[in-house]
Amino acid sequence: MDRDDYPRSTFHLRPVNTELTETVNYIRPHCRRPPALGLILGSGLGAYADSFSDSKVLPFSDIPHFPYSTVSGHPGNLVIGSVEGVPCIALQGRIHFYEGYSMQEITFPVRLLGCLGIRSLIVTNAAGGLNPDFRPGDLMLIADHINLMGSNPLIGPNPGIGPDLDEPGPRFPDMSTAYDAGMQDIARDVAGRLGIPIRRGVYLGVTGPSYETPAEIRMCRTLGADAVGMSTVPEVIVAAHMGIPVLGISCIANMAAGMESRKITHSDVLKTTKETEEKFRLLLTGIIKTVGSC
Ligand code: HPA
Repeated sequence: MDRDDYPRSTFHLRPVNTELTETVNYIRPHCRRPPALGLILGSGLGAYADSFSDSKVLPFSDIPHFPYSTVSGHPGNLVIGSVEGVPCIALQGRIHFYEGYSMQEITFPVRLLGCLGIRSLIVTNAAGGLNPDFRPGDLMLIADHINLMGSNPLIGPNPGIGPDLDEPGPRFPDMSTAYDAGMQDIARDVAGRLGIPIRRGVYLGVTGPSYETPAEIRMCRTLGADAVGMSTVPEVIVAAHMGIPVLGISCIANMAAGMESRKITHSDVLKTTKETEEKFRLLLTGIIKTVGSC
């Protein structure tokens, strides 16, 4: 079926390829070298991109067709630069489904990074801890995810991938290796060398924006999740569709609802992620250096 033949009702799915081509053409001249690595920096973790060398900062709102974030803790810039000589491109803040954008819109930036030629993607987020062994401030490598967002960014016409966007990605992409084992090994090695304790577990994605109820959290634990959050899953599905290896890192910002007596607030989430900033910075820089040399 041609895109134009698609039922009108699916046309919250915008003609992503035309817009994407325009956005790629806008961004490319700002890249001195093709970016090798993409980063999506979640709640309270965006400051990492401030340390890029030779950086160029483009506010999301200046970029054609780019959705922009309305959430505090998500400054909303695309930062192009380098880390230890590795050309990087980072989303300082991300767009969430709960802001009212479609799944296709919130994953538009991943398609953009893919078309700009990134060879791997690091996604980070703040999450609630479900595993009783975890503590706020822990960093967790995402081993796998559970999609409880009730939707999927690949619903609708199968978008093109690759530089010319005319080659469709697989209609039914495999997700069994969406979180790259080699990148997780690198992350564990780097963390070990730096003496940074690191957890590993399953991330469960929900829409939010309300935090979960204690009963929902008991259900998530029964399902086998170690952390819960409101992002990442759609981005990783699109990266898998484009064949981009992903490393996911969650900062456990709080223990999930009902696991502690205190209430969960966004300002506490931001406070905890801020407190992890230094170890997060050291870990990411070590990973980028190693990934860049592979
Ligand atoms: N639940 C969902 N998303 C989150 C949480 C949480 O407890 N903490 C940070 N993001």
